[in-house]
Amino acid sequence: MPNTEKLGGTFALPATTVTVKRVGYGAMQLAGPHVWGPPKDRDACVAVLREAVAAGVDHIDTSDFYGPHVTNGIIREALHPYADDLTIVTKVGAVRGDGGSWLPAQKPAELVAAVHDNLRNLGLDVLDVVNLRLMGGGPTGSIPVEGSVAERYSALAELQQKGLIKHLGISNALASQIDEANAISPVVCVQNLYNLAHRTDDALVDSLAAKGIAYVPFFPLGGFTPLQSSTLNDVAAELGATPMQTALAWLLHRSPNILLIPGTSSVTHLRENLAAAELVLSAEVLKRLDGIAAEA
Ligand SMILES: NC(=O)c1ccc[n+]([C@@H]2O[C@H](COP(=O)([O-])OP(=O)(O)OC[C@H]3O[C@@H](n4cnc5c(N)ncnc54)[C@H](OP(=O)(O)O)[C@@H]3O)[C@@H](O)[C@H]2O)c1
Repeated sequence: MPNTEKLGGTFALPATTVTVKRVGYGAMQLAGPHVWGPPKDRDACVAVLREAVAAGVDHIDTSDFYGPHVTNGIIREALHPYADDLTIVTKVGAVRGDGGSWLPAQKPAELVAAVHDNLRNLGLDVLDVVNLRLMGGGPTGSIPVEGSVAERYSALAELQQKGLIKHLGISNALASQIDEANAISPVVCVQNLYNLAHRTDDALVDSLAAKGIAYVPFFPLGGFTPLQSSTLNDVAAELGATPMQTALAWLLHRSPNILLIPGTSSVTHLRENLAAAELVLSAEVLKRLDGIAAEA
């Protein structure tokens, strides 16, 4: 039986009047290789964004450090002036060094500068949602590390009070850091690494669901290391879906506070990803997919 709720149904961000469809779009793949410089085919990127919005996507994730500046410029070219119901979520906390390295830019003045870069390059007077992206460990800096976020998050909360940002979120964060930030100004979304094979945040997903806070997994398809699992392939074949669609459908089934931002530079993949919301997974299928993290 297909799921008739378009794009996975909706989710209301807490302490806001914003409701978004659960399947959104992540714009990181619109920059050049390694998220550096311009894409090979800018027109194709513009087409992906326009197709996403035409299909009902109302939630786009970006950052001015993609490119840098490139992805936001493409979003502006494709979609400005933005529809009233489009929520653009950006993130601050890093800059790009020579050759594409990712450098921390977490001092309050650097965060303020990054907010102004996003405003300018997106062509906005106020940003819908800004995530404070914490620097972490591991090969992609995506493993959260301990440390107070108060000074950094307060710098963004000040910009929120000044009217430059509507809502705040946090990325690559531990539960204690989310609580600390939430006491300063409501955290409406948390963006951490999570997918079928990487489930360190299982308890966090559930605790945020109980608080009504959105959990937005990055690398939902494995990111730079695409998900690979024979169980996933077998289940997908039985469902008549692709492995990537099945992985996205699993996330939608995992918890009602999970919002998807799969990244793609391809209209074909975009269509597949949006159609994943129509897959209904039985309890038996979910159990098999739940076993993949242990295999990984
Ligand atoms: N907060 C953070 O620190 C952080 C970190 C990373 C990413 N993000 C955000 O999260 C979003 C998602 O992450 P991501 O883009 O890095 O990784 P992802 O969504 O897990 O995977 C993207 C990769 O999968 C491919 N892909 C997409 N759809 C596919 C499909 N249907 N079939 C086969 N391959 C497919 C893409 O290639 P094609 O272009 O060829 O489709 C790309 O190589 C990003 O766009 C970004 O907005 C946030």
